[in-house]
Parts: sequence; structure tokens; C-alpha cells
Amino acid sequence: MAAFYSDELVSEIVAANDIVDIVSAYVRLKRSGSSYMGCCPFHREKTPSFHVSADKQLYHCFGCGAGGSVIQFIMNAEGLDFPDALRFLADRAGIRLPEDGGNANEERHSRKKQIYAMNRDAARFFRECLLSPEGEAAQTYLTKRGLSGKTIAAFGIGLSPSGWDGLLKHLQKKGYDRSLMVEAGLCVQNEKGHTYDRFRSRVMFPIIDVRGNIIGFGGRILSGDGAKYMNSPESIVYDKGKNLFALNIAKKSGRGYYILVEGYMDVISLHQAGINAAVAGCGTALTREQARLIAKSPVYLCYDSDEAGMKACERAAEIFKEFETKLRVVTIPDGKDADEFIKKHGGEAFEELLKKAKTVTEHRLDMLLRDVDLNDASQKIEMMGKAAKLFSGISNAVEREIYIERLAAKSGISAQSINSEVRKVNAKNIRKEVSGELRKTVGTAQGGQKPRRRSLAEASLLSMLAESEKVYLKFADEFTPDSFSEDIHKQIFNHICTYYKESIGGSCADYLLKALPGNEKEVSTVLMAVQNVENEMQAAHDFAEVLRNEIFDEKLQKAQSEGDIALISELLKSKKQKG
Ligand code: UTP
Ligand code: MN
Repeated sequence: MAAFYSDELVSEIVAANDIVDIVSAYVRLKRSGSSYMGCCPFHREKTPSFHVSADKQLYHCFGCGAGGSVIQFIMNAEGLDFPDALRFLADRAGIRLPEDGGNANEERHSRKKQIYAMNRDAARFFRECLLSPEGEAAQTYLTKRGLSGKTIAAFGIGLSPSGWDGLLKHLQKKGYDRSLMVEAGLCVQNEKGHTYDRFRSRVMFPIIDVRGNIIGFGGRILSGDGAKYMNSPESIVYDKGKNLFALNIAKKSGRGYYILVEGYMDVISLHQAGINAAVAGCGTALTREQARLIAKSPVYLCYDSDEAGMKACERAAEIFKEFETKLRVVTIPDGKDADEFIKKHGGEAFEELLKKAKTVTEHRLDMLLRDVDLNDASQKIEMMGKAAKLFSGISNAVEREIYIERLAAKSGISAQSINSEVRKVNAKNIRKEVSGELRKTVGTAQGGQKPRRRSLAEASLLSMLAESEKVYLKFADEFTPDSFSEDIHKQIFNHICTYYKESIGGSCADYLLKALPGNEKEVSTVLMAVQNVENEMQAAHDFAEVLRNEIFDEKLQKAQSEGDIALISELLKSKKQKG
């Protein structure tokens, strides 16, 4: 039954959750007056069009149109429906919901507590099983993998028995309901209503939250067929995307950073080697929520060096970027994972890997160079294009230079050429950003704003002139700097003429950006005024016609206001002839 909340209660909950506070947990906001701006979390964008008003307690994205109050924000950001979003916010503000007389909350709370207790009993049971004669093979296995008795105890590692209902019977004796066992994912119920143990003959790793509650289990197969790991399903106590394995320990490591690895075994090996800052996701790709848990400290990404590991590493880097986390990428030699490396070379060798860890850019550059045959020209060029894109994302000039020099040294391409490629990419990026803005302004330009219309016609014609020499030759005689009303347009026109007349190499766009330093934005506004035209000549004709009309109107208006009858009639006559 859907819960119903009074308007008063909804207002109270909204009032208790400041929208700027809430949104700040998801989006980096910049303040301007009483409003804040950032990049919209609901669609991909590079330039911020997401606004939050502290006064109005509303948010709105001018890019994708998302908007509303703090409730809609949480619904969108957390993927919740209205009642759950309200519950989320009420919880956060410590407001009790009277739903079903307030019992639902309490009932939920007590069920959670029961599951925690049951999970603890299950873990004890698994542990006893591991230490019993049945656990001999599993113990041998763990010893072979290098785990000490101390480590096994510290992580509460156990064994699920081979039968169908060992755990079920044990928990039943302890007084737990079957339904609770199923809800917590310890048992499974089939279609016939028969209940049995989910984990059988698996090495059991308890997953513990930062408060010390066991929220689930990961179970590794010992032998035979089947998935390598079987994990507890999500439940009211276990949200996979919001937990990291061993975070409870790593939080207290005192190292001031975290090491993010892929697997349970990697974490455990690292901890055994004294490197207790390691955490892992639990069989899911890293989520923002998980990243947020550790993002304030520096993070070492230590993924496997296979294809999948590299992809996961890239993804993680993207996620952490949002939090501006200080990131390092650890590369484990010989395609091993952290566990195998430690087993072979020991903890100290791993500490050395941490010292040698690379920045994300260095790592990406290494990856680019790793896959390329520098003797193959086309491969080299392709690599150069990718590297230029990579470098263009670095806003710090010194940092950029360091990487450019590094690539130059490794590839034999001159730093100068690399620099020029990077500039090209940058220019393109500026153009892309500006085109978005232009689209917005064109919208407002319609509706008869004269000066705006003229300015757009000028920019559009100029962009066609810059694009094609044919177009330039066609219109070069008709238009002069005086045809353009804006100073920057006059300058751009002059430079376009120079570019063609003096047969300057490279693209006209590059030349203009270079010729008008400090005016990148204006230049790119012009260059991006028109995009994706199929017939440049036709488009140029259209723009030229608009501009002619604008110039004509301006002249006519001037003549009229000055009462210059001769000029007026001359203008009108020439117009008639042409028309
Ligand atoms: P790995 O295959 O790298 O596991 O998967 P591992 O921890 O190194 O285990 P060993 O060394 O082979 O014993 C990394 C993580 O992905 C999840 C688990 O969380 C695992 O630790 N996983 C993997 C699953 O959830 N299910 C699977 O079938 C495999
Ligand atoms: Mn492994």
C-alpha cells in the first residue's frame, strides 16, 4: 500500500534538507551570488548548465531541462520513487515518518538488526565448519594460497558445508525464520517453496560494513564447476554499490590513502603483508557511491593488467575525477594481480610498486605507447592523435609540457609537432563549446533582434569564407571590412583575406587563432557559427543575402533619419533593380 504523507510533513522534510547541501554531495558546485552552478549529474556535459538556487531551494539544468526541489533531485540522483526519496531525506534529517503509525520504520530497523545477528551466527558456523574435519581440504587450499591462520581469523574466513541445509538447520536451531534467511540471501527458496542453503562447499568471506556489521558474504568455489565466486544478493542490509570490501579495516590503517584492488584475495594478501589500506568492490564495477567513500584521500588504482582490468581502471579514473581525488595507477608486472605478486615477491616489493605508481596521464600515455609500433607511420600518427587529445585535457601548462617532452623522448616526434597537434585539438574543443552557446543565442536572436541578426549573419558568412577558398574568391570583391559591423569581424575578415592572398599553409582556423591571440572565444564563435553544411557555396549565398539586406536596411534607416531624400530614392531604386 502506498504511503501517504501530509503536505506539512513533506514541507518539513524539504525544509530540513538544504538543497545546496544535498546537491553538493553529488555535484561540485561553484557559487555565484545566492545561486550555484555545476555540471549536470543527469546528462553529460563539460560546461556547467546546472543551476541550484539557495533562495528558491530549486535546481534546474538549462542543458537537459531536469529540475525541481530537493525531492526530485534525490529521486533522480538515487533512482528512487517519491516515497523512498522522502524517506531518504527524512532519515538524513532525523525526522520520523508516521507511515503506518511509524511502525514500518521500526519494523525495518529491527529486521535489519536480526539479519546482522543472523549473519554473525552464520559466519561463526562457517568458521567452525572450516576448523572441523570437513574443512581439511579448504584449510589446505588456503594454506597453499599463503594465508596464515591469523589472517584467516582476522577476516573471519570460513567454509560453507557441502550439504543442502547445514546452515539452514543451524540457524533454525538458533531461532531464525526461514523467511529471514531467504531475505538475507543465506538461503534460497525454489518454486516449490523448498528452502536450502545458497552457499555450498565454498570458502566464505564475510563482507563487513564500516560499523562492523556483517552485511553479506562472498563465497569462492573450491573445486569443480560453477561460478568462481557466488555473492550474497542485495538486501535491506546490503547495497553492493555502497560498500567496499575491507573498508572497515582500511579506514583505520593510518596510511592516509587507499589502494583499490579487484578481488577479495588481493585485499587479503595485501593486508597480510601489512599493507592494510587495500579495499575492493564486491564483484560489481566501481560506483560513484563507492568512490565517494574513499575519494577524499589519495587512491592507488591497482587493477589487473589484462584488458578488462585496464578498462575498469579507466572507468574508475573517470569516476574519481569528479571528486578531484589524487590518483595513482599501480602497474603490476607480468600481468599478475596483487595477490599473485605479493605471494611471489613479498610486501616490500609491493611498496616499491606503490612508490613507482604513475599519474593517470602517465599511465594512459604508457598504454598508448605500449600498443604502437613506432616504425609504422600510420600507427604513429594515430597514436599522436590520441596523445594530443589526452594532453589537451591537461589545463596545467607545466604539467602538459612535462608529458609532451616525455612523449617526444619516447616517440622521436618533436615536442614542437606534438605541441601543434595539441593546439589543434584545443581549438576544436573551444569551437565545440561555443557552438552550444551559439545555438542558445540564435534562439533569442529570432524574434527580430536586429543587431543580433546582423552579427550572426556576419559570423556565418565569415565561417564559410574561412572554410572554403572557392567561397572566398566568390565573395572577396563584394565585401570589405566595412561590410562588418563588429570590430572583431572586421579583423577576422582581414585575416581571412591575408590567409588566402598570401597562401599561408595550415588551416584557416589555426591561422586565425594564432593571428588574434587572446580572442580565441570570439574567433571560435565565428568559426563555429555554422556547422555541418553540405553545400558551402549555397549557404554562403544565403548568409550573404541576409547580410546585404541588413546593410541595406541600415543605410536606408540612416538616410531616413537624416532626411536624405536623394539617397533614399537611390537606395530604393537599386533594391528594385536587384529584386
Ligand atoms: P578475480 O577473478 O580476480 O578473483 O575476481 P580473485 O579475488 O583474484 O580470486 P582468486 O585469486 O582467483 O581466488 C575479482 C573479484 O570479482 C568478483 C569477486 O569479488 C572477486 O574477488 N567475482 C569474480 C565475482 O563476484 N564472481 C566471479 O565469478 C568472479
Ligand atoms: Mn586473484
